[in-house]
Amino acid sequence: MSIHNIRLEVMRFLETNVNEYIKQFLIPVEKIWQPSDFLPDSQSESFFDDVTELRELAKDLPDDFLAVLVGDTITEEALPTYESWLLQVEGVQTEDSEERNGWGKWVRQWTGEENRHGDILNKYLYLSGRINMREVEQTAHHLINDGFDIGTGRDPYKNFVYTSFQELATYLSHLRVSDLAKKFGDTKLSAMCKKIASDEMRHHQAYAQFVKRIFEVDPSEMLLAFDYMMRQKIIMPAHFLRESGESSGSLFEHFSNSAQRLGVYTATDYVDIMQKLINKWHIDKLTGLTDKAEKARDYLMKLPARMSKVAERMVVPEVSYQYKWLQPATRL
Ligand SMILES: [Fe+2]
Ligand SMILES: [Fe+2]
Repeated sequence: MSIHNIRLEVMRFLETNVNEYIKQFLIPVEKIWQPSDFLPDSQSESFFDDVTELRELAKDLPDDFLAVLVGDTITEEALPTYESWLLQVEGVQTEDSEERNGWGKWVRQWTGEENRHGDILNKYLYLSGRINMREVEQTAHHLINDGFDIGTGRDPYKNFVYTSFQELATYLSHLRVSDLAKKFGDTKLSAMCKKIASDEMRHHQAYAQFVKRIFEVDPSEMLLAFDYMMRQKIIMPAHFLRESGESSGSLFEHFSNSAQRLGVYTATDYVDIMQKLINKWHIDKLTGLTDKAEKARDYLMKLPARMSKVAERMVVPEVSYQYKWLQPATRL
C-alpha cells in the first residue's frame, strides 16, 4: 500500500473514535463560557460605569503588553485560514451526506470553540480605549488575505504535529498574558485570557492524543513527519503579520520581540515545547522503526539541547517598536 493510502486508512481508523474525542476534549455550547460572560453587558444599566472601569484599568497597561495582546487577537481572528486549511487535510471529509464525516465535525466544533477567542479579545481591545482599531482591523484583514504557509501540505501526520505544537504555544502565551494582566492589576482581563488558555490546553491534548494513536499504528511514518516538522521549524500563524501600507510579514519580528521581552513566548519556550512533545509521545521508547526512522529519532532526541544553545545566544532589542496599532487614529 502506498504511503498516501496508509495515511487515509489511519485517518479512517482514528475517525471511528471522533465522537468520543469530541466528548472528551470539547465542551458543549450550553456548558462552555462565552465572551459576554466576561465583558460589560451592554443591556445593563451599569454598562457605561463598567466600561469606564475597564478603561481606567487599561490606562496603565504597557505598550509592549498591548502589542502582544493585539498580535494574539489578530492571530486568533485569522481563524478562517486555519479552518479552511484543516478541512483540506487528507482524510478529512466534510460532506454530511457521506457515511464518514467525523473529521469534518471535529474541525467545525474546534472552530466553534476557537472563534470565541478572537471575539472576546477584539471586544476588549475596542472598549479599552488604547487601540487604533482601524489599524488592527487592517492587519487582521491583511493576515487573512495573505493566508499562511506552514509546510505541512495536506498531510494529516504533519498537520497534527503542527496543531499539537501550536495549541501548546498559544496556551502558554495566553496564560502568560493572563499572569501579566493580573500583575498590572487588571483581574478581569486576566480572567479572560486564562479562559482562552484553558481552551488551548484541551485542544493541545486532543491533537497530541491523535498523534499518540498514530504512533501506535504507524510509528515510522509518524516519526518521520515529526522529524520533518521539527527540522523545518514550526512557523507561527502570525508569520505574515504586517501593518497597513507595509509588505507581508514586516511586523512579525517586532511582535515576536515584544513577546520575548515580556517573557510571553520566547525561544526557550519553543525548545521546551519540543521537549514536551518528545516526552509525551515517548519517542525514546518507540519500537519496530525502519532504519530511516531510527536515524530521525537520533536526530530528534538531540535537537532540544542543540536548539537551547542557539536560544541562549539570542539577543532581543531592548526598545519597543512604535506600533501603528497603538497610535491615535488620524481621522479624515
Ligand atoms: Fe485560540
Ligand atoms: Fe488554539
